Amino acid sequence: MGNAENRRWLRRAGQARLEYGADYNPEQWPREVWPEDVRAMRAAGVTIVSVGIFSWARLQPGPDRWDFAWLDEVMDLLHGGGILADLATATASPPPWLTTAYPEILLIDQRGNTVWPGGRQHWRPTSPIFREHALRLVRELALRYAGHPALAAWHVGNELGAHNGHDFSDDAAAAFRHWLRHRYGTLTALNEAWGTDFWSQRYTDWAQIIPPRQAAAQINPTCLLDFQRFSDYALREYYRAERAVLRKFTPDVPVTTNFMVMPGVRRMDYAAWAGEVDFVANDHYVVPGPQARDELSFSANLTGHLAGGQPWFLMEHSTSAVNWQPVNPAKKPGELARDSLTHVAHGADAVCFFQWRQSRAGAEKYHSAMLPHAGEQSAVFRAVAELGARLAALSSVAGSARVPADVAILFDWESWWVAEQDSHPTDRLRYHQEALDWYTALLDLGIRADVVPVGDPLRHRMVIAPILHMVPGSLADRLGAYVAEGGHLVTTYFSGIVDQNDHIWPGGYPGALRDLLGIRIEEFGPLLDGETVELSNGTVGTLWTDHLDVTDPATEVLAEYRSGDQAGRAAITRRAIGSGSAAYVSTRLGPRGLSVLLPDLLERAAVSSELAPELRGRVELAIRSGHRFLINRTDEPVDLGVDGLLPPRGVQIIPR
Ligand code: GAL
Repeated sequence: MGNAENRRWLRRAGQARLEYGADYNPEQWPREVWPEDVRAMRAAGVTIVSVGIFSWARLQPGPDRWDFAWLDEVMDLLHGGGILADLATATASPPPWLTTAYPEILLIDQRGNTVWPGGRQHWRPTSPIFREHALRLVRELALRYAGHPALAAWHVGNELGAHNGHDFSDDAAAAFRHWLRHRYGTLTALNEAWGTDFWSQRYTDWAQIIPPRQAAAQINPTCLLDFQRFSDYALREYYRAERAVLRKFTPDVPVTTNFMVMPGVRRMDYAAWAGEVDFVANDHYVVPGPQARDELSFSANLTGHLAGGQPWFLMEHSTSAVNWQPVNPAKKPGELARDSLTHVAHGADAVCFFQWRQSRAGAEKYHSAMLPHAGEQSAVFRAVAELGARLAALSSVAGSARVPADVAILFDWESWWVAEQDSHPTDRLRYHQEALDWYTALLDLGIRADVVPVGDPLRHRMVIAPILHMVPGSLADRLGAYVAEGGHLVTTYFSGIVDQNDHIWPGGYPGALRDLLGIRIEEFGPLLDGETVELSNGTVGTLWTDHLDVTDPATEVLAEYRSGDQAGRAAITRRAIGSGSAAYVSTRLGPRGLSVLLPDLLERAAVSSELAPELRGRVELAIRSGHRFLINRTDEPVDLGVDGLLPPRGVQIIPR
């Protein structure tokens, strides 16, 4: 996805290489520390740092006061040490003088409360006043550093939408109305799309429309969906405004911003963002749990496809513990390198951390860094320097394309948003988890899969579309054409249910996919917590069942329910269509159940593992042209035969 052909990598001279570094916050340290930093960075193999992300208050101490001298010094020191700067536009956190003078730039939450300064990113994406001040800062920075030899890229804001994804202020209301007018043209069209005859919500004037603020009862779901779309757009629009300034003054410097392709972050449709950046950059943090490692791979995989197969930038991850989970375990030996190299395996050409030197003060002082509180005499710093050396030796990987897999998992932010709205058959459904479960099951079977945005061309042998809830007519047509051309589609419960306005496709579920799948569902049968159903293939379902009838003679029942209200009915079906097929899984099987089901579906799609049988499940395989990455998924050593021994949590990179 995205404009792969327009991608630009860092402004720098010399041979291709994998970049290595971190966020660097020198303003938190006395000047004497800075040369020390550069020396230790060199010792660690650092090639690039992101600098200035939270520096607004230092760079502009007052409305007409500027102080660039310290940043000049830092930039010069970096350049002197041969280290590049991914220079931030410093707009992530507005300084107190600005928010005091203009409290109307502050976010307003759903209940109408002000979100006060004291943390960071407390600004409204739609505030004209914020924009004016922020763009002035961006202009000053661009003019000052345009010709600086360390400047390799621009880093707009920071994780746009992390804290300010939804704003319910009057500025937001005005911009929302403007966006809606553009989308619908007339109130008649909006009333139709929002289904406003429900609960007497019909609008007769645009001014009556407000963001979905705290209401007495459930809010109109299409209003919620459009507000989600609008909020994402408003942030993108803000990004574009900064980018326009940067492009004007530094046309040869690429511009990016760091995405957050992670399960807990769903407000930004990164498929839409991907076309806006010169190179894709992502932040990823591991959240402990049984699928933590697979989730990292899933995120890296999806990010690589957002980048259209081009190299991308891992802008942040952690060397060890984070500080924002309820409990923050340190990484185990080997994990730092394995996590980093998994991103590289999926196309990252830069591996960066948050942050270079662990803070002494502030909310993130217990967050790990490349240079921890313990200093250079520490296991973390040694692992950091080892990884630096390893990445330096892997320069032949830089720029190499990922080799496509035979299986794709479709990822769709809009289905994620809509499938998890309230007032649904269950509030227990988790879109991202279902997609991840399929990924884990494929890894367990030793099958490589690509995680691709739903808008990408459908060209894999098998396409798995978990909870593809929102299926506009055009998508139904694409899926139909894919199957007609011999593709093998697999989809799940709660897919194909609504159109782009979140209106039900009538006539029985899964409306948009009913004929393609050759089934018809009269009613959903969500399961209570702890309730399970047995299937005839020995698997166990949770969360969901369907009251399903097979409607087409070519639809085969692969498994039926053996217990529960649907006992005797089809649970899993597959309709053959020419040399293609369309399969449906009506319950949540989890990774274990899916790995029972998948071998049959894969075999019929002529997909097989590229790994030796003894490695399947224990090792993840990822391929970039010229290199095979074998990643140990376990805490045990794995014998790779002629390729040696893979230590626990180790990664072996083998030329091919
Ligand atoms: C990121 C953020 C960084 C830092 C990091 C800590 O979300 O961009 O500034 O806060 O988290 O994990």
